[in-house]
Amino acid sequence: MELGEGDSDEKRRAALVESLPEASDDTPLMAQLQQDARRRIELRGRRFPRPPSTRVVTVANQKGGVGKTTTTVNLAAALAQSGLNVLVLDNDPQGNASTALGIEHRSGTPSIYEVLVDGAPMHEAVQESPDVPNLFCLPATIDLSGAEIELVSMVARETRLRNALDAYLTWRAETGKEQIDYVFVDCPPSLGLLTVNAFVVAREVLIPIQCEYYALEGLSQLLKTIELIQAHLNPALHVSTILLTMYDARTNLAQQVANEVRTHFPDLTLRTSVPRSVRISEAPSYGQTVMSYDPGSTGALAYLEAAREVAERGASAADSGARDESDTFSPEPHPGDVRTTPDGDVPHHGHEASGLADQNIQQSAALAAHQEEQ
Ligand SMILES: Nc1ncnc2c1ncn2[C@@H]1O[C@H](COP(=O)(O)OP(=O)(O)O)[C@@H](O)[C@H]1O
Ligand SMILES: [Mg+2]
Repeated sequence: MELGEGDSDEKRRAALVESLPEASDDTPLMAQLQQDARRRIELRGRRFPRPPSTRVVTVANQKGGVGKTTTTVNLAAALAQSGLNVLVLDNDPQGNASTALGIEHRSGTPSIYEVLVDGAPMHEAVQESPDVPNLFCLPATIDLSGAEIELVSMVARETRLRNALDAYLTWRAETGKEQIDYVFVDCPPSLGLLTVNAFVVAREVLIPIQCEYYALEGLSQLLKTIELIQAHLNPALHVSTILLTMYDARTNLAQQVANEVRTHFPDLTLRTSVPRSVRISEAPSYGQTVMSYDPGSTGALAYLEAAREVAERGASAADSGARDESDTFSPEPHPGDVRTTPDGDVPHHGHEASGLADQNIQQSAALAAHQEEQ
């Protein structure tokens, strides 16, 4: 009997998974090897579903070192390797996402700075990844470190990235290029105007949470910021995804933090967590993501599985559609998503609103409200 290519592929994968020895939790190493084997069979070479229109996801957490950049570049590479067109906007003056993607970003290279501050067209600065086809990056150079201050006095300072991305996506359509399926925005560890721009360009927020003490501190501030943006600048913005990173199953603390996050955000937290892995942390020094540096490693397979979850959750039309004409940024809830909730719902006690960044957001919100009235 002739089977469709898709069917036979599914059957082949299922038969292979079936043939794996009975899963045993005798030793953590054995369990890990079996999980890796299953993921390798189930995921490598698989094509993920294409969202009906471009999904724009901002990766944010105002804490530094929680895995924002690592998550941005590896999810982006995983989705691109699985057949989708992906664009990374490096929105952090440190340019770590550009480094990890092997993208030229010396001072003076056309970058997100020229786009935000000078209004240069994005397509003049976007580069294609040298390793992964269909993966693009708008680099950040050190010049971006001045942008936070330069933006303050600019017109439409909160919507500059969004306007630039809209123009880029239109340019692609007009020049006959394929639709971008995913845009990921890598954010700096602060809540200033660069991050505000990232919250205005996106419809979804992905929050990486590092499984360690203090992990949840500051989360209530982040969620409050998102609410402010939602109320005044971008009603469609919502937290769609939480990813647990640098998870070390051997420590009780990591397990406790993970349980706490899953209890508070059961629908948002991906089933897959990303383990602490040397291969993941080595990859950037070779100008690569772990997805091309060591695709068979535990860390790469975890990101591939997480990317599949992201793609499959978004395959329902309701959660995407950030950039089509019919999009009116309506504030209806999205199935499967929980909107940011009032403080009561947030575990731990975040620091109270901190100085300048918060003032910027308050001012931006007030300004937007004022403009609406006119
Ligand atoms: N799963 C992981 N295993 C090991 N090291 C990791 C992992 N995720 C991130 N790191 C390392 O932790 C550091 C901080 O990660 P990064 O993604 O740069 O965080 P952020 O962008 O939030 O500041 C980097 O050195 C990175 O290589
Ligand atoms: Mg970073």
